[in-house]
Amino acid sequence: MAKTVKKADRAIMIALQIDNVDVRFGGLQVLTMCRLSIEAGEKRAIIGPNGAGKTTLFNVISGIIMPSAGKVLSFDQDITRSPAHVRAMHGLARTFQITNLFNNLSVLENIILGLQALTSTKYIFYRTTSSFTELIDNAVSLLRTWGLEDKKDRPVRSLSHGEQRQLEIILALASRPKILLLDEPTQGLSTAETALVVPMVRSLDPSTTVLFIEHDMDVAFQMADKITVLYYGSVLAEGTEDEIRGNPNVAEVYLGLEGDNA
Ligand SMILES: Nc1ncnc2c1ncn2[C@@H]1O[C@H](COP(=O)(O)OP(=O)(O)O)[C@@H](O)[C@H]1O
Ligand SMILES: [Mg+2]
Repeated sequence: MAKTVKKADRAIMIALQIDNVDVRFGGLQVLTMCRLSIEAGEKRAIIGPNGAGKTTLFNVISGIIMPSAGKVLSFDQDITRSPAHVRAMHGLARTFQITNLFNNLSVLENIILGLQALTSTKYIFYRTTSSFTELIDNAVSLLRTWGLEDKKDRPVRSLSHGEQRQLEIILALASRPKILLLDEPTQGLSTAETALVVPMVRSLDPSTTVLFIEHDMDVAFQMADKITVLYYGSVLAEGTEDEIRGNPNVAEVYLGLEGDNA
C-alpha cells in the first residue's frame, strides 16, 4: 500500500519522492539536498537554467546514476539502488534529451522493436506468425491512437523533428507506464512543431504521473499542473503558475536568461 497524505479530505498517493538527493561527479556537486514530491497523476514541469542538474535528476530517478546521498521512493517503495530495468518493470518510462530512434527504420519498425523489447518473446523472434501479427496490430493501433498511422511506412529520418519527438513519446507509452519522464520533449522544435507535442502531453491518461523538463516557461505552464524550478542542483521554487510567476527569486534567475535558459 503506497503512502498517502491527507489534503483537503482527499487521500493523495505520492508517486515519486526525492529525498535530500546529492549527486557528485568528482569534485563537481551537481545536485545538493534535492527534494521533490510528486502526486500520482500529477503533470509536473522541471525548469531551470542550463546545467542546473535537471537531466541528472532524471538519471537518478530512472536509475542511470546512483546518488551520493539521499533516497528515491516510488509509491512508497525505496528504489534508490534499483537497476534501471527493474524500475522500468515497476512502471517507469522515459525519453532522452537526444533522440533515441532508429533513423533508417520505418516508424512502424521502431514501434515494433519497442513493443518487442517489452514482451517475453524478446529473444525468440516471432515464435508464431499469429504472435507477430498481433505485435504489428498493437503497433499500428498505438500509432493510430496518436495520429501517426499514415506515417507508419516512412523512415524515421524523413519525419519532422516534432513527429520524431511524438514517436519517442509513443514508444515510452508502449509500456503503459505509471510514471513517465520526458527530457525536453520540445527541445529544438519550432513553434508549429511544439504545438504537436503540447496537446499530446495534455491528453495523456490523467492517472499517468508525468515529469517533464522544459526550457520554455510558457510551454511548461501550458502542460504542467505545477512547476519546480531547479537552480544549482537544488529546488529554488515550486508551485502553480501564479506562484512561480510571482516569485521574486525565480524572476531574478530568469531575468536576462530569456532565450538562453535551457
Ligand atoms: N556524467 C557526468 N559526468 C560529469 N559531469 C556531468 C555528468 N552529467 C552531467 N554533468 C554536469 O552536471 C551539470 C548538470 O548537468 P545536467 O544535469 O545535464 O543539467 P541540465 O539538464 O539542467 O542542463 C553540468 O555541469 C554537467 O556538465
Ligand atoms: Mg538537460
